[in-house]
Formats: sequence, structure tokens, C-alpha cells
Amino acid sequence: MKTYRIAAIPGDGIGTEVVAAGVEVLEALAARCGSFSFAFDHFDWGGEYYKKHGVMMPDDGRERIRHHDAILFGSAGHPDIPDHITLWGLRLAICQPFDQYANVRPTRVLPGITSPLRAVSGKELDWVIVRENSEGEYAGVGGRVHRGLPLEAATDVSILTRGGVERIMRFAFRLAQSRPRKLLTVVTKSNAQRHAMVLWDEVAAGIAREFPDVTWDKMLVDAMTMRMVLRPESIDTVVATNLHADILSDLAAALAGSLGIAPTANLNPEREFPSMFEPIHGSAFDIMGKGIANPVGTFWSAVMLLEHLGEGAAAARLMRAIERVTAEPRWHTPDLGGKATTAEVTRATIEAIAAAND
Ligand code: IPM
Ligand code: MG
Repeated sequence: MKTYRIAAIPGDGIGTEVVAAGVEVLEALAARCGSFSFAFDHFDWGGEYYKKHGVMMPDDGRERIRHHDAILFGSAGHPDIPDHITLWGLRLAICQPFDQYANVRPTRVLPGITSPLRAVSGKELDWVIVRENSEGEYAGVGGRVHRGLPLEAATDVSILTRGGVERIMRFAFRLAQSRPRKLLTVVTKSNAQRHAMVLWDEVAAGIAREFPDVTWDKMLVDAMTMRMVLRPESIDTVVATNLHADILSDLAAALAGSLGIAPTANLNPEREFPSMFEPIHGSAFDIMGKGIANPVGTFWSAVMLLEHLGEGAAAARLMRAIERVTAEPRWHTPDLGGKATTAEVTRATIEAIAAAND
């Protein structure tokens, strides 16, 4: 029997609560399927670790997870530590060196969940946002001079490389091609940003020729926000730069009913390094320790993890269990307007996995 080694990194805030729930559900699923198992290694990296050791993860941290089959991540962010330290010290310190350049964010209105858009369901809103995850506005290039002086200046330089754009475009076109509508929207801002975004557009047009069966269009990012709200049914697969997709994916999650259900995969498609799966909601310190965090974002991320491992049947079984649970308002956590706790939603999901005879 195949045993998958998973590195669990809960991180901070509600990350610890939802990753524990995710591990429980994955164990139950493996037991139900019977054809594979998981061996979890837990790593206590994050804000509390930083307070003790002055770093978010140890120097050999990446080496210790380098050979795992996948990483299940909670969130990084701590009220006492500046956000750029928690982000660059843990999440980006894993994503960038492990070259997880394709960040995939599916958005769908799940059964039982109401979108703030009137009369929109999973039929009209079923998107996948592909976020370039290795460069662009998150390249980390820049600096500060004349610190503290009136002359002080600071830059954050967005870098796009032809190779980086080619690989994310190819990934996005391939993903669009695998979906029934074969429809891709390339988000850009090449009217105002006349260097890197123009390269982005040119590369998109070139890669498009490799995928004659995919219909694609180009959309300025500001207009894209309107289109997401006013014509959600016109969208299927979307590709955007790191920051554009960061912003669009929060809007997408809100339109799908809650940030609490939105999942992410940080993929190294070539599988030279492990890929990382996480809910997109962040550490949410305001509700930490209350036991009311929505674990569905983590469960859905676990579905993506299973798909990446090649366990398609198990992934589909977990997704069906999640949908059976969201369909019942009594299993809605407060972010969805309900009263359920993390533990109750977890138990309901495990019961749905066990009860299913498919
Ligand atoms: C996300 C998050 C992160 C990001 C934050 C936590 C830095 O918003 O995954 O979308 O901006 O990448
Ligand atoms: Mg974000």
C-alpha cells in the first residue's frame, strides 16, 4: 500500500485549527479508501517559533520537507510580528525556492451557500484563477535609501521574465483546455504598465498558438473586477500576475460566499519539489481559539492535494462529502452566517465520507 509523506505546517492563528481538522479528514478518507495511507510530519514553524528563535523556520527547514510528497499549510501571520517578516520568512521562503510557480485557486458556489450576487449558483460561477507565483510584484526586488531622512526613497520592482511568463501561460492554457468550456481570460494592465505587462501580453499571444482549441481573451484588471460581478458566467479559467491574482482571488472568494471555503494549490508542476496546499483565508486572529474557523477551505485544499498525488477517486469522494456538508445550513460556520463549530463541520465531513456508498 502506498504511504504518502505529508509535511503539515499549521503556522499561526486559525491555521493550527484548520490544519488539525484537515489531517483528521485525510486520515478518515485514507481509512475509507483503503488503498493508500498518510504519514504526517508536523512542523511548529511560524510566529510563535519566531518569538523563541528569531526566525520563522530553522535554517535546514526546507531540507527537512524537501522529500515529502506534499505540504499542507495553514497560514502565516502574527499580530506581534510585521507581516512582511512572517510572509517572507515562511510561506514565500517555501514557495519561491521550491519553485511553486503555479498558484491555482478554484472558485465555485458550493451547494447550500449563497453568493452575494443575486441568483448566482455553481452554474454561473465556476472559475479557476491561475496566479503567477514566483515573480512579478512579489519578486522581492527593491530597496530603501536615505532611511529616516526627508529624502527617503523606496522601490518595489516588479520583474517578469519571458521564461516565467511562458511557463505560467502554458500551464493556464493547458488547464483551460482540460475544462469543458476551454475558455481562458488573460488579465493584464498593459495600457498603463508599458514594459513588463506588454511582454506578458506578447507571450500570451504566442503560447495561445499552441492551443488552437482554447478560446481566449484579454482583459484589463480593473475591467475584470466589473466583469466578475456583472457577467460571472462569461468567465472560466483566468491567468493573472502575482498581485493582480491575489486581489482578484479575494473578490472571487467573496462572490462564492466566503473566504472561509476558498482553497489554493502552490504547484511545482515539474515535481522537482513538493507542492503546497493551503486555505487562502489567512490566520484570522480575531476568531482564533474560538473553535469556529471554517475548515472547508482546508478540506478543499486537501482535495487539490489528493489530485496532485494522483488519487483522483479519493479527491472526488472528499469533494462530494464537502458538498454534502455545505448543502446543510446546520453545518455552516459563522463566516457563512451559521453557528457550527470547526469540530462539528469536521465530524460531519468524516461522517459523509463514511456514509457514502460511492
Ligand atoms: C494570499 C495571501 C497572501 C498573499 C498574504 C498572506 C501575504 O493574501 O495567499 O492570497 O498576498 O500572497
Ligand atoms: Mg490574498
